Amino acid sequence: MGAQKRLGKTDGIPAALTAFIGRREEVADVRGLLSASRLVTLTGVGGVGKTRLAFQVGVTAAQAFPDGVHVVELAGLHDPGLLVDIMAAALDLRNQRARLTLDLVVEHLRTKRTLLIVDNCEHLLPVCVEVVDSLLRALPELRVLATSRHVLGITGERTFLVSPLRVPLPEREPSAEELLTYSAVALFEQRAAAVLPGFKVTQDNAMTVGRLVRCLDGLPLALELAAARMRTLTVQDILEWTEQRFNLLTGGSRAALPRHQTLRALMDWSHELCSERERTLWARASVFAGGFDLEAAEAVCTSADLPRHEVLDVVHGLVEKSVLIRQEHGGRCRYRMLETVREYGQAHLAASGELAMLHRRHRDHRLDLAARAQDHWFGPDQVAWLTRLVSEHANLRAAMDFCLDTPGEVAAGMALATLPRHYWIAHGGLGEGRRWLSRLLAVGTQNSAARVEALGTYAYLGLMQGAVEESMPVITEYQQAAKQLQDATAFAWAQHHLGLAAAFRGEAERAAELFENAVAQHRAAGDLAGATECMFKLAITVCICGDTDRALSLCRECQTITSEHGETWIRADALFAECLVHWQLGDHDTAEALARQALHFLRPLSDRWGIALCVEVVAWHAAAVGDAERAACLLGILQSLWQAIGGPLSAAPFMTGSHQQCEQDVRAALAQAQFERALRRGAGFTLDEALACVLDKAPAAPASPWDEGPYRGIALTPREREVAELIAAGMSNKDIAASLTIAQRTAESHVGRVLAKLGLTSRSQLAAWIHQRRTPAP
Ligand SMILES: Nc1ncnc2c1ncn2[C@@H]1O[C@H](COP(=O)(O)OP(=O)(O)OP(=O)(O)O)[C@@H](O)[C@H]1O
Ligand SMILES: [Mg+2]
Repeated sequence: MGAQKRLGKTDGIPAALTAFIGRREEVADVRGLLSASRLVTLTGVGGVGKTRLAFQVGVTAAQAFPDGVHVVELAGLHDPGLLVDIMAAALDLRNQRARLTLDLVVEHLRTKRTLLIVDNCEHLLPVCVEVVDSLLRALPELRVLATSRHVLGITGERTFLVSPLRVPLPEREPSAEELLTYSAVALFEQRAAAVLPGFKVTQDNAMTVGRLVRCLDGLPLALELAAARMRTLTVQDILEWTEQRFNLLTGGSRAALPRHQTLRALMDWSHELCSERERTLWARASVFAGGFDLEAAEAVCTSADLPRHEVLDVVHGLVEKSVLIRQEHGGRCRYRMLETVREYGQAHLAASGELAMLHRRHRDHRLDLAARAQDHWFGPDQVAWLTRLVSEHANLRAAMDFCLDTPGEVAAGMALATLPRHYWIAHGGLGEGRRWLSRLLAVGTQNSAARVEALGTYAYLGLMQGAVEESMPVITEYQQAAKQLQDATAFAWAQHHLGLAAAFRGEAERAAELFENAVAQHRAAGDLAGATECMFKLAITVCICGDTDRALSLCRECQTITSEHGETWIRADALFAECLVHWQLGDHDTAEALARQALHFLRPLSDRWGIALCVEVVAWHAAAVGDAERAACLLGILQSLWQAIGGPLSAAPFMTGSHQQCEQDVRAALAQAQFERALRRGAGFTLDEALACVLDKAPAAPASPWDEGPYRGIALTPREREVAELIAAGMSNKDIAASLTIAQRTAESHVGRVLAKLGLTSRSQLAAWIHQRRTPAP
């Protein structure tokens, strides 16, 4: 793991479901253009293969971009104001502390050699031009590869017109073998074989296939749609239909059909050959942005003429016809349409008069999803819901767009932006969440329960983003609105928000007082989730005020409640709070063990802010035990984590002292060059690499309680020690397996060995023992 491994990093490019065919020269040409020019735009008609070519260039050129190739996907995006957010998310720049601006993106990319692929610029040309132009001006090392049906028109831009795939000339009768050297033929054969296993271009069908791909002008999407017909038709049938139809369209003239018409004709044909129900679903499902799952199709697209129990079959039919593409995401099956195919469906939806109804249903389903996510948030399915919300992000945006654009829908929009507040926070979408809320609040000015919640969330996100003074008037408005509606939960949250503001200002005593009120009010309202969300913050503030006993007991209580509910996000925060207490008490080993435990919970949530705070303590510990090289590497990891979060550690003022001390000690222990090298190594890691580095290193002896006391001499391997920490944190075998990315059965055998080696018989015994060891001696 090191700088070497990062060369050729293409994680940002979606994995292709089919092999890339032909286009060797085009790939080389585009790469050539990219080395000569910093902006290259691939243009061409819909379905010609611009996106696919761009991704292939990205994969083959990756070696030249040690800081990665990243894809910014704009299809389906309506709000130009979100371009920067989407770009930042593509760069894994999840702002949690600062307002996300183009400057932050520039800062992040400043020293990097990166290729940005900006896909589907055509519908957002003005903002794309503005943003890409500014990035290129500010970053001399940056290269941009755009795909767009129209050129961007930026100075220095080189355009590359993507032609269809190569087709054989009409006057020749090549052999099957020769024919397959034409990429259009190879693509047709590959796609036909996918629906008709064993299909091959042979001497018998060579002529027909040759004529067909020529007739389809080598257009990849047209070839795919035609090949999908092979299940029920022969190549000859397809050719006859195509020739007939094209003759009709060209009035029998020998002139070739313009390409967009070729594709249009193929789509019309695909559409005609669909069943009535498939046509209905094609149109209705075009309302989804960023794909959908079966549940969503059943909830949104059904009617008397498309009953719910038939949707699966209809979806299946559309997948077979290449109208829908099946993908797996987070263990769930999702379907999406290529942009050209979706636009075709949208035109039919608009003509059907069902557009508004479908948008409303789509919005209702998003609301239902957001409400269920919120209901399940404080429980064992938290990570699964977070993953689901991530894959539904584009749909969430589309639904909020609808609410903003449609009179009378603003309250629903507020609920849509408010319910996923933990998603905005944990996933680093504070800026985007605030943007939606501020737009909605500006439109919906009349007080209502939805508005109260929206105000509360708006203030919360603002505070988390560090906009303390800006959020104060929002809190006041929130309190007044809550008073009008006698909303007890809102009163409790207002106390929490004020506490947070005080904490960020460094007023620990005042913050503790306010958090104390918040916890009490949440408890009185029977809201345990709210109470624990405030409780660990109370623990940190009372610790800062010097009451470590109270802090410890709050941490334990918070951990007990969250573990009883199977919740992990707040539990991780409570572990982190306890870790700070132990650090303050001088028990650095225990603090480090707790930080690592918390990281295991935070890893599947990808909560950058929480992760950075815990890595701080692991770094301080490495420095404290004299492992200066590792500490320097961890400082490098922290440098890029804080940069990606968009703010320095100053947001947690109580930690800056230890950070500075750590850096000072490490610099003193290492030669300048050695320090810089280790720092750069850490700074170059991806998040996954960084976490592997932070977590896989066993604590240096005698850093763990397992090496001491009555269990001294018991040989736990580093992995077993790690497993023991996770058991103590209350994780199930399934969670342990997920956290360590090992099979559940492997996790089970680790657990068995740990208990056996420690002479214990149950997980609760182990947890009790560890907690006992951590309680400071009176
Ligand atoms: N060289 C290729 N090898 C394999 N498949 C290809 C190739 N080129 C295009 N395709 C396939 O053809 C279809 C259309 O290609 P793509 O989506 O890249 O077109 P596009 O020009 O980006 O269209 P749009 O303008 O709608 O964005 C996709 O399913 C893609 O995977
Ligand atoms: Mg495309």
